[in-house]
Amino acid sequence: MKALYIGLVMVLLSSAADANDFDSCKACHGQSGEGNSALSAPAIAGNLSPYLLRQLQAFKTQTRGGSDDTASAQTMSAAVVTLSDEQLVAAAEYFSSLSAAELSSTDATDRQASGYYQALCGSCHGPNGEGNKHLSAPRIAGLSNVYLSQQIQSFKSGVRQQINEPYARQMQRMVNEVDDDMMERIIRHIGTLNGEAYLESH
Ligand code: HEC
Ligand code: HEC
Repeated sequence: MKALYIGLVMVLLSSAADANDFDSCKACHGQSGEGNSALSAPAIAGNLSPYLLRQLQAFKTQTRGGSDDTASAQTMSAAVVTLSDEQLVAAAEYFSSLSAAELSSTDATDRQASGYYQALCGSCHGPNGEGNKHLSAPRIAGLSNVYLSQQIQSFKSGVRQQINEPYARQMQRMVNEVDDDMMERIIRHIGTLNGEAYLESH
């Protein structure tokens, strides 16, 4: 009986050591980090680790998710506010290492929005929305329209613009170049992208 008990404790301890399996995050973001639109939690699997870490730090310090931000962003901020920097690094690395959900691309019917996407966004976020690690521009394929619209609005209003945060500032400059109508069409276009890395040979 004692041996069994010790065995059980060992199992529990080893799963606690894996407690870096981030169950609390998965409760909202899904078991594979695929996101859960019912909870407004975006897909985070397979995104760039430095990007994820930057966001986690911003949520922790409430430069994202502060009192002027959306309820969703505030919820996320509450989820990480007590975590240590080491835990944030581990979480960013873990979710970055998971594979992003496979997406099937749908036909881009709005050719004009597609052209705008390629000209204005694709240079940083990649032709298929796959992201670009050299520019620290995140993967945006596979995010919901609602989430994308909200983020664009937050960049625009300055809520999601960390002072001296060069990456967010880049985005803020970008979103001011596009009128609301076209931005909505671009966002719908992003919904047709499959996030596959573009091959030079294509
Ligand atoms: C209670 C639900 C909840 C929990 C728990 C939670 N999140 Fe979130 N998370 C969200 C929501 C909602 C958003 C979207 C915030 C917004 O709209 O700006 C988000 C956003 C994020 C983002 C930004 C994604 C992007 O593309 O910019 C990252 C990264 C993230 N969460 C990671 C985590 C990690 C890691 C954990 C665990 C330590 C965690 N989350 C726990 C709900 C949650
Ligand atoms: C100069 C490079 C650049 C261009 C051009 C650009 N972006 Fe970004 N974008 C970024 C960077 C860098 C970030 C990460 C910002 C941060 O770390 O806060 C980002 C973040 C985003 C996000 C937030 C993603 C998330 O998961 O929360 C969205 C949405 C987005 N961009 C959409 C667009 C759209 C749409 C366009 C075209 C109209 C565009 N971007 C053009 C560099 C760029």
